[in-house]
Amino acid sequence: MSSLRLLGICGSLRKASWNRKLMLEAARIFDPAEFVDANLRLPLYDGDLEAEGIPAEVQALADQIKAADAVVIAGPEYNKAMSGVLKNALDWVSRTKGGPWRDKPVAILSAAAGRAGGERTQMTLRHAMLAFRPRLLHGPEVLIAAPAQEFDADGRLMNDRPVALLTELMDELRRAAG
Ligand SMILES: Cc1cc2nc3c(=O)[nH]c(=O)nc-3n(C[C@H](O)[C@H](O)[C@H](O)COP(=O)(O)O)c2cc1C
Repeated sequence: MSSLRLLGICGSLRKASWNRKLMLEAARIFDPAEFVDANLRLPLYDGDLEAEGIPAEVQALADQIKAADAVVIAGPEYNKAMSGVLKNALDWVSRTKGGPWRDKPVAILSAAAGRAGGERTQMTLRHAMLAFRPRLLHGPEVLIAAPAQEFDADGRLMNDRPVALLTELMDELRRAAG
């Protein structure tokens, strides 16, 4: 077990989400001292709401990002881009003080029904995050297409290739965080 604190962010809210399973597999492989599962059930970004103060759950997320040694983000692809849930979270956190993403080691994962396994969600997420200046890992890319054929009933990845790629990515993330 490492001595590191890992934050997991899943861009899908549904209970049976493949991306949640993927995020949890990443956390098992990373083997942190502490794993925090971020809450993305935030209000929709609204400038009027912001004028009343940053919502407590948004500030909690920003604080978790700041406190983490590393972050893993698993996001689904919705209509060729990242989910609105994830974009909403990025938008809110960008309005908090202290630049929580700055220099933060971040690994991106995706599981999607389409053949590309969420390649476009990764691309749009990378693009949106550039301005926050995290240490975004460039690879290896972990893209899970046809996720129903990749996970067993316990949510574990069944096939060697994705496990090898995820292991390599988590090794990179641990190195970047250490
Ligand atoms: C609104 C919506 C749009 C979607 N668009 C895409 C898409 O552009 N590409 C793709 O591969 N899958 C798309 N899908 C299918 C998702 O990849 C699939 O539902 C996936 O399981 C969602 O991730 P989750 O299991 O973590 O919730 C879409 C699903 C929804 C609900």
